Amino acid sequence: MGPEGTPRRPPTGGDEPFRLAARAAAVLRDRLGGPPEVAIVLGSGWAAAEARLGRARARLATSDLPGYPRPSAPGHAGRISAVEVAGRRVAVISGRVHLYEGHPPAVVVHGVRSLVLAGARTVVLTNAAGALRPEVPVGGPVLLRDHLNLTGRSPLVGPLPPAPHRGRFIDVGQLYDPGLRRLVRCLDPTVPEAVYAGVLGPQFETPAEVSMLARLGADVVGMSTVLEAIAAHHLGARILALSLVTNPASGLAPGPVDGEEVLRVGRGAARPLGALLARVVAQLDEAPA
Ligand code: HPA
Repeated sequence: MGPEGTPRRPPTGGDEPFRLAARAAAVLRDRLGGPPEVAIVLGSGWAAAEARLGRARARLATSDLPGYPRPSAPGHAGRISAVEVAGRRVAVISGRVHLYEGHPPAVVVHGVRSLVLAGARTVVLTNAAGALRPEVPVGGPVLLRDHLNLTGRSPLVGPLPPAPHRGRFIDVGQLYDPGLRRLVRCLDPTVPEAVYAGVLGPQFETPAEVSMLARLGADVVGMSTVLEAIAAHHLGARILALSLVTNPASGLAPGPVDGEEVLRVGRGAARPLGALLARVVAQLDEAPA
């Protein structure tokens, strides 16, 4: 059992994920000192960005949240902090869970769904990704303008979402908010835009898969983000997503792709990226939809 006698059973299908996320949202509002305005998900290697956002005013372990599984991926701490950035309450999750850990989509999106139901109208998703083209710079961020969801899964599969939520056939033509993208490009015109291929993993790609993904129109590849973006958009949140490009994808560089290297590159770049995230949050009012 979790806090206040809530069962720790993770969500599975049907409308249960939404009910469980609503319960988790109540815990979040309580433990974070009120409803968050912004939710930031820190991906692999991004942990050091949190320190640049500001001092945590409140913190809870993801294990205290009804329905949240234990993260098992390296570089994912398992906590949610409330940080005040330019007068806004920002909830920062370090502890993403992935499909490749064996979780169903409802579990993968549970943290983000709960934070949106708790009040977050803006969701910032970060991740580590491999470059699919030689011209994509490695070691810095790219701004997602769109994605290819190649996981074969969706958080909207199952019985209809319960009222008052929207139905399942949602438009995803502008999943990554144009106003937020404009704001980032204005704050740092050197950050290129990219199409993200979201794959299941956990193995990295073969060179043939890398060449296929590039031909399909993707610029970077990673193992997260796409399901969370769909779930948050379904609930009406505005989404910004940034990938830290940690490596050339398989076949684009002489050596093998190394998971340790992915985390190491992330650690090096995460602090300045935290400063960029703080500037984005501070200027959200300058990003009309
Ligand atoms: N492929 C998939 N996911 C990744 C990669 C990659 O090359 N690098 C970081 N995450």
